[in-house]
Amino acid sequence: MMELTHDHLPIHLTNLAQRYGNIYRLKCGNTTMVVLNSSEVIREALVKKWSDFAGRPVSYTGDIVSGGGHTISLGDYNEEWRAHRRLVHSALQRCCQQSLHSVIERQALHLRKVLMDYQGSAVDLSEDFTVAASNVITTLAFGKEYNKTSSELQQLHSCLNEIVALWGSSWIFALDSFPLLRKLPNPVFSRLLREVAKRDEIIKEHLNNYKRLTDIHVHMATVDLLIGGTETTAAWLNWTVAFLLHRPEVQTKVYEEMCTVLEGRYPKYSDRHRLPVLSALINEVLRLRPVAPLAVPHRAIRDSSIAGYFIPKNTVIIPNLFGAHHDPAVWSDPYNFKPERFLAGGGGSTRALIPFGGGARLCLGESVAKMELFLFTAYLLRDFHFIPPENKASLPDLRGVASVVLKVKPYTVVACRRPETNP
Ligand code: HEM
Repeated sequence: MMELTHDHLPIHLTNLAQRYGNIYRLKCGNTTMVVLNSSEVIREALVKKWSDFAGRPVSYTGDIVSGGGHTISLGDYNEEWRAHRRLVHSALQRCCQQSLHSVIERQALHLRKVLMDYQGSAVDLSEDFTVAASNVITTLAFGKEYNKTSSELQQLHSCLNEIVALWGSSWIFALDSFPLLRKLPNPVFSRLLREVAKRDEIIKEHLNNYKRLTDIHVHMATVDLLIGGTETTAAWLNWTVAFLLHRPEVQTKVYEEMCTVLEGRYPKYSDRHRLPVLSALINEVLRLRPVAPLAVPHRAIRDSSIAGYFIPKNTVIIPNLFGAHHDPAVWSDPYNFKPERFLAGGGGSTRALIPFGGGARLCLGESVAKMELFLFTAYLLRDFHFIPPENKASLPDLRGVASVVLKVKPYTVVACRRPETNP
């Protein structure tokens, strides 16, 4: 069954789950995939049986993009990979404890200034969100931040964007499943190779500049953080503003909560437990639009089982996080934006949320991302309220464009300063 060229794959796979159940098999070329569509079966595979399913499919194109399997995200599970992941994980944990908070605060304040400078005009904020998220990562990785007009930043982003977009394209997918196609000219694949070479040139230069280790692991860990940490966070912020335009009263509630709890000061990450309305908003956007909707494919390292079904070694496992977050058995009114479901008595449980995956392959940037989502959203909603442009009757389209990252279609918005904001 070839279902994978669908325009919004997560929705399509979720619809198939209605017909075939929470676990079903797809065949594509010589690859067999098992799609998991509820948090229960996803947790069984990724967390409970993590050691059976921590592999990544080895693919022709993946090998090229990851410098021979040396990224953390695409590298297969083995001793070398574990050491690599542990090293980067402990470096990120150190950042979280020491400098991350102030790095994000600095970018949030910069974003505030950028929005004020728009002076109420209707703008598309996606690029500003990308710059903010990317500066957090480049500050951590290179000790360097950029402004939007920097040609170096633009080069880096257009290159990473292209890689993510091309990587999700069916042209590339076809190369992995139908080896014969590799003998034919493939313009999309040639473009991917060009962008990968450009990416490596840019990153090599940076690591040389800073006289850090230049070995392939450091290089590829930097790729992981940039690719994993920029588009995801930026796409999530863009989704949040899009949903808030549809439900303006949610902005008011978050704002009023911050006024009461913080009495005018800017929030710290440690305030999150005292800001349940804001936390509910963050959780609801993570639920409705998990920005990595199908995670990254896993591979069964050995024969195993999921939900009682036999899963042979080398089966590719697709955790459909989008599907799990829309599972009608767990969520009431699953397709509707209702942050209040996560407030006391609302019936929504954060236990069923798995936007970062789980187990051995849990998103490496989860703690970085959580701090970013909280601080950026809090800073934005403390100083601005977002309204649709006056001359546009239509609100943002909430269906989204799904590739590796699930993004909202471009839209414009007016950021109005809250009257209480100090200049
Ligand atoms: C992997 C989600 C932000 C770095 C993943 C996976 C998901 C995910 C679902 C795949 C897990 C799996 O294979 O089962 C998200 C979401 C984010 C986010 C929803 C923000 C809203 C970040 C950030 C960074 C990052 C900020 C870096 C600082 C990575 C890396 C991997 C990964 C390196 C690969 C992990 C591995 O294969 O072992 N992420 N992510 N992510 N993410 Fe994130």
